[in-house]
Amino acid sequence: MTCMTLTVNLPGGTALPLIGFGTWQLRSTAAYESVRAALDIGYRHVDTATLYQNEADVGRAVKDSGVDRGQIFITTKLRPQDARNARRTLESSLRLLGTDYVDLWLIHWPAGQEELVSTWRELVSAKDAGLIRNAGVSNYSPAQIDLLTEATGQQPAVNQISWSPAQHDPALLDEHRRRGVVVEGYSGLKNTDLLNPVLTEIAQRHGVTPAQVVLRWHLEHDIVILPRSSHRERIAANFDLDGFDLTKEDVASIDTLARTG
Ligand SMILES: NC(=O)c1ccc[n+]([C@@H]2O[C@H](COP(=O)([O-])OP(=O)(O)OC[C@H]3O[C@@H](n4cnc5c(N)ncnc54)[C@H](OP(=O)(O)O)[C@@H]3O)[C@@H](O)[C@H]2O)c1
Repeated sequence: MTCMTLTVNLPGGTALPLIGFGTWQLRSTAAYESVRAALDIGYRHVDTATLYQNEADVGRAVKDSGVDRGQIFITTKLRPQDARNARRTLESSLRLLGTDYVDLWLIHWPAGQEELVSTWRELVSAKDAGLIRNAGVSNYSPAQIDLLTEATGQQPAVNQISWSPAQHDPALLDEHRRRGVVVEGYSGLKNTDLLNPVLTEIAQRHGVTPAQVVLRWHLEHDIVILPRSSHRERIAANFDLDGFDLTKEDVASIDTLARTG
């Protein structure tokens, strides 16, 4: 497995790199420097959102990195309360990011039930207008995804949801897989006890850190990861996931953390 260059193809044909750089809670200089470091190290996927208030810093980092825009997969997200001004919000995101399209635009979380479909229509229309390459959702249930698909004939390409060993849910993964919706997992490190003996034993045996074990475990389940760090060594380590192999038994014992806490 060459994780660093591994991608999954979205329905429209765009290649989505399995390792993305998360930017929640990174602001101004910290956001700029962390994204610069990530792009320098080799990340080609950056995850931001209107909510994070760092799109301008991300945009500046992308521009100053010298990496071709076309080589970088950029995701941003629409807050549901901005749905009525969706196009204007998107145009602001594009301006701040310094680009004329994003690779993926997500609805950050589901709004009230009666606005689910109208909000989704805004994303479909932005895609038709060529302002976004792919449209998706975040924090949606499979049933909510079905509602959008049935109403518009357009299925979200991605669902970005909270995922970690403690939250591992094979049935939910299956629900996404059956629909062809790519799962992006967030807060996988934050929601994990990195001192858990199951993880430290596996890490020690492979000569890596528990954080690397957790991230690699997501990839073994074909879950896109979005690790965030403001430390260059960690940004590098979180991207360096192909120098070791988890055995089937390792993966299975990490899976059990969902049942044992
Ligand atoms: N769609 C949504 O609703 C949603 C919600 C939450 C997050 N997200 C996205 O997912 C991304 C990731 O989630 P997250 O930021 O919540 O959490 P995360 O990436 O799981 O964890 C970040 C925390 O882990 C630490 N860390 C990073 N690398 C480490 C390592 N190698 N060893 C030990 N600790 C390490 C970081 O500290 P240092 O900075 O000190 O290294 C930071 O405190 C976000 O940045 C955002 O892009 C989306």
